[in-house]
Amino acid sequence: MAHWVRLEIKHVRRGSKAHGTMIPSLIYLDRYRNEGTRVYSPHADYTEADERYRPNSRVSTFDIPAFELPSDEVNVYTADPSPALRQAYTSEGRTLFCVHPQLLESQGGDPYLARILSFGKAKKGIRVSPSSSTRTLYVCETSPPHALKVHFPFRVSRYGRRMRDEVVEQAINVSRELQGGLGAMDPSFAFLREVLGVTYRNLRSETARGENWGYLVREMTPFPSVQEERKLVPGFSLFGRDFFEQGIPPLLFELAGDEDLQAYVLEQIMFPIIRHWVGCFLNFGLLLEPHGQNILLEIGSEGEVVRIVYRDLNLGIDNRRRRDIHIPVNHGNTYNQMESGEFNSITYDKFMGGHFFDPLVAALEERCPKIGPEDFREPCREEFARIFPEHEKYLPRTVQYFSEERDRFGKPLFRDTGKAPEWRP
Ligand SMILES: Nc1ncnc2c1ncn2[C@@H]1O[C@H](COP(=O)(O)OP(=O)(O)OP(=O)(O)O)[C@@H](O)[C@H]1O
Ligand SMILES: [Mg+2]
Repeated sequence: MAHWVRLEIKHVRRGSKAHGTMIPSLIYLDRYRNEGTRVYSPHADYTEADERYRPNSRVSTFDIPAFELPSDEVNVYTADPSPALRQAYTSEGRTLFCVHPQLLESQGGDPYLARILSFGKAKKGIRVSPSSSTRTLYVCETSPPHALKVHFPFRVSRYGRRMRDEVVEQAINVSRELQGGLGAMDPSFAFLREVLGVTYRNLRSETARGENWGYLVREMTPFPSVQEERKLVPGFSLFGRDFFEQGIPPLLFELAGDEDLQAYVLEQIMFPIIRHWVGCFLNFGLLLEPHGQNILLEIGSEGEVVRIVYRDLNLGIDNRRRRDIHIPVNHGNTYNQMESGEFNSITYDKFMGGHFFDPLVAALEERCPKIGPEDFREPCREEFARIFPEHEKYLPRTVQYFSEERDRFGKPLFRDTGKAPEWRP
């Protein structure tokens, strides 16, 4: 057992060379170059995931059961899946329903799980490796490369990680919308499409919200696709420590090579992300969540950041902006819809600024004490104001964050920290 685990870890670690640097594979970085980064909130390093299913464990893969259900038991949502992926999960009259094994092993008494089990044993196990988010799972050795984002009703960090029906449908809707409107974004923007969603049909329409759940199929090839082979580097792995070898220097310095560090970080990482956040907001009313886990740097052969690739499309939606630009507000699925600006601040000031840019700058400061936060914050504030002159209309004057209070569904409320923003004027 221990032997094959070691071998498989070596296998996922195999990297490729860019800029004279060995860049490990995405799976390796995602799982094992993330030590010391989960410190951005008091909940950040909390997990109820069993050791076997955690990204930072020595277990390299596990199987997730896929049940074959009659198609009239499920809802299927699509956003332009390739025929191969569609056929892998749905066929005439039957649909695969993927369930995280920890849920199967738990004694929770979930009514949907009971219903799924009533159709008999899982048809097959799909071999997967966990990603940094724990509940999104890379499907091993498959083509086209894809991942499954599955229902995981256990707490990881602040939230229980459910994939309720409206959550699944919303990600598919956002994927379709971004794909259709991509021309409005700058060419350094790319994303991982969520192409297929499956949920159990709602068996209890009398409840206050649908608790029926399912999973998403995420393409792992950044969209739009390109011919050239490029490496993908999760944001946190720029400064995260290695799980196996604590002393390895941060990947950021390897990638930047001899370039001026301030210019590299500002021009290749921070400005593009700010432009993408503003672009998504202005063009779609969508709130990107650019913390270090949701962004992947796409690295070209010279070590340059060619594009920023966004994963995780369960985005906040600012209905005020959508009305201003005459995009229809979806009244059928109101998940994550906002009528005021608190969440805009949380995504920009906290997820991007506090959770990603601040630790990135701290890693730079450690290496070059002459560098300080203002060397980055001031140019970012200027860039933000330049490309988004009407920002005051949509963002609160002070930084907002999650409160420890929750609503009746367990979702955290927002609170005003009273602090002035650092990454915008
Ligand atoms: N450095 C990091 N910054 C932020 N989140 C991190 C980091 N490392 C691991 N994570 C984990 O990633 C998840 C981030 O939550 P988020 O809602 O963005 O992702 P998700 O919806 O669970 O999955 P995915 O990003 O795969 O769609 C949490 O489970 C968090 O613990
Ligand atoms: Mg995420």
